[in-house]
Amino acid sequence: MRFVDIIEKKRDGYALTQEEISFWIRGYVDGSIPDYQVSALCMAIYYQGMNDDEIAWLCDEMMHSGEMIDLSDIAGIKADKHSTGGVGDKTSLSLAPMVAACGLKVAKMSGRGLGHTGGTLDKVESIEGFQVALDEEQFKKQVNEIGLAIIGQTKQLVPADKKLYSLRDVTATVDSIPLIASSIMSKKLASGSDTILLDVKFGDGAFMKTPEDAEKLARTMISIGKKLNKDTRAMISSMDQPLGNAIGNALEVEEAIATLKNEGPEDFKELCMNAGAIMLMQGKLAKSEQKAREMLQKNIDNGAALNKLVEMVKAQGGNPEQILHPELLPKAKMQIEIQARKEGYVKRLKALELGTLAMQIGAGRAVKEDTINHAVGIVLHKKDGDYVKAGDSLATIHTDSELNEDWIKNFYDCFEMSVDKVEKAPLIYKVIE
Ligand code: URA
Repeated sequence: MRFVDIIEKKRDGYALTQEEISFWIRGYVDGSIPDYQVSALCMAIYYQGMNDDEIAWLCDEMMHSGEMIDLSDIAGIKADKHSTGGVGDKTSLSLAPMVAACGLKVAKMSGRGLGHTGGTLDKVESIEGFQVALDEEQFKKQVNEIGLAIIGQTKQLVPADKKLYSLRDVTATVDSIPLIASSIMSKKLASGSDTILLDVKFGDGAFMKTPEDAEKLARTMISIGKKLNKDTRAMISSMDQPLGNAIGNALEVEEAIATLKNEGPEDFKELCMNAGAIMLMQGKLAKSEQKAREMLQKNIDNGAALNKLVEMVKAQGGNPEQILHPELLPKAKMQIEIQARKEGYVKRLKALELGTLAMQIGAGRAVKEDTINHAVGIVLHKKDGDYVKAGDSLATIHTDSELNEDWIKNFYDCFEMSVDKVEKAPLIYKVIE
């Protein structure tokens, strides 16, 4: 088999066979197929797409390119959730303890942020001492004992994706539905959970710009999961503005803690309740959404959900005092209020731009090698649909250095205003099973 023939076949719009896909992934991982040829194939896939069989074969080959985690010695149904990423998305930090407090086992492997999107690992590392590098035995032991662990993906998990994703990142081939679906699902399936909930985002701050494309991606991933007998469901949710109010690592941990105390922002709480209810039904712990929501609310009200986060932080070497007293989390040197210059209704907040501005003051990485300042970020005080008077605080910027004029101008530009009253756009567009 010659790889150039495979590229040519896809370039001309034909479907690849299972053997050709195996040849590609195996050859790429063992180094016999070079980056430049794989770049050409990814670009051909970007334009020509793949059919369901090709996507399933690609996912299967990628999934088996490294170790497969076996969670069978953890009692009960193991649940996983994955968000396609966005700005202010701290869902795992609240949702995982909420469902674990209801009795679900959550063995979660998370990633780091890049560009305008944050990553769960960077957020949990705002907590002093928190270890994300547990080995497989420690990981399983912790999930068995307290029902919850959040760790980083091991180097051996889907090595094909590590190599392929880095290449796609620099060859403008990330936002291809077959490539995203196989990348995400290969990692979820190799991580060994029984159920998978996908939060597929659409909008300005997401890979998928429209709800229709997000739904297409969700359906592609659900079909892969179902082929492997995993209960896979998806929420299609908006990333047209940041989720919740906080953008930035320690600030997001603080907001996640507030949410576990019933004090978080409404949109974020609603996303967690919706996702939590689906996960409890997938895990057969609740028969209806109504029952599931009652269980979640009860475990928030009685403090069990917050306590679950404390237990996880302790088990992973972190300082639990920072969860009980969030004022002990890292703090930026300055807190600068940005005041509205004119009155009106907030029509839209540009999520992508706000994520980029947070990154520029140190909350994220422009390139993988950058280090993160956990303390800095943005806390929004106004979001879409809100009425603003001149002089109202739009946001507090937590920063270690003064903000320059360009930064402030770009920040104001993130607020699209209207003189007419604006309705809040719905956060959750659809749930798909
Ligand atoms: N997240 C992933 O893990 N893979 C992609 O291809 C895109 C987003």
